[in-house]
Amino acid sequence: MICAPPSTAADPARRSHSYGRKRGRKLRVGRLKLFQSRLPELAIALPGAGRSLDPRSIFPFAPSSVWLEIGFGAGEHIAWQAAANPGVGLIACEVYENGIASLLAHIEREGLVNIRIQHGDGFEVIDALPEASIDRAFALFADPWPKARHHKRRLIDEEGLVRLSRILRDGAELRLATDHVGYLRWMLEHILRSPHFEWTARTPADFRERPADWPATRFESKAAGQGRPATYLRLTRRPR
Ligand SMILES: C[S@@+](CC[C@H](N)C(=O)[O-])C[C@H]1O[C@@H](n2cnc3c(N)ncnc32)[C@H](O)[C@@H]1O
Repeated sequence: MICAPPSTAADPARRSHSYGRKRGRKLRVGRLKLFQSRLPELAIALPGAGRSLDPRSIFPFAPSSVWLEIGFGAGEHIAWQAAANPGVGLIACEVYENGIASLLAHIEREGLVNIRIQHGDGFEVIDALPEASIDRAFALFADPWPKARHHKRRLIDEEGLVRLSRILRDGAELRLATDHVGYLRWMLEHILRSPHFEWTARTPADFRERPADWPATRFESKAAGQGRPATYLRLTRRPR
């Protein structure tokens, strides 16, 4: 459903974030079929310029809250959250076709009805959502873009935090994770300067230990196996 324009509707001057690869290995027949048959049913139709997307209207039930993950990879984390929180509606954003096909396989296998998918730059859906309309957001192991000339591609920077802060309601949680020391330092510098978020960690265990309601992804396990442990950041959206 399309409703009134948001106060900060999608602005064409804002940076696009479509840098990552769009497809990998050719999809197996089953995955290709899923992609062709299920994605059109579950894909989010973005509203035209100047209009906003009511996130509660895109699910086949009235969700108790709406969560969003940008860059879900193979979808293990968001599928786990969807199964563990059947009353929550989840917006899943990913540019990588093979990752979307993998999430569709989770949805089929596990009979999940509470996920809707943005195939493309997650910030396009973020900018289309109304102010304070999302209850929790995740950006886990986002690409670290280690070369200095690519730092402007990082999802979490001053602009990324502002765009996320607009859609999160007061007190909502933003969960970030990384296995890359340089990106961790970068994120913390931006978070600690941000007027919109508070980092809630009080002891090292709060960012070194994975919370029980935060499943590991294949990406995380592989990084840990290669000697790059994860850091888990939980931020709270400050009151407006
Ligand atoms: C390093 S992977 C991590 C995937 C997953 N979060 C995990 O922990 O396994 C980063 C993912 O973010 C996706 N991505 C990067 N920029 C994106 C954007 N602007 N919108 C949606 N997805 C994006 C990439 O395609 C990639 O799959």
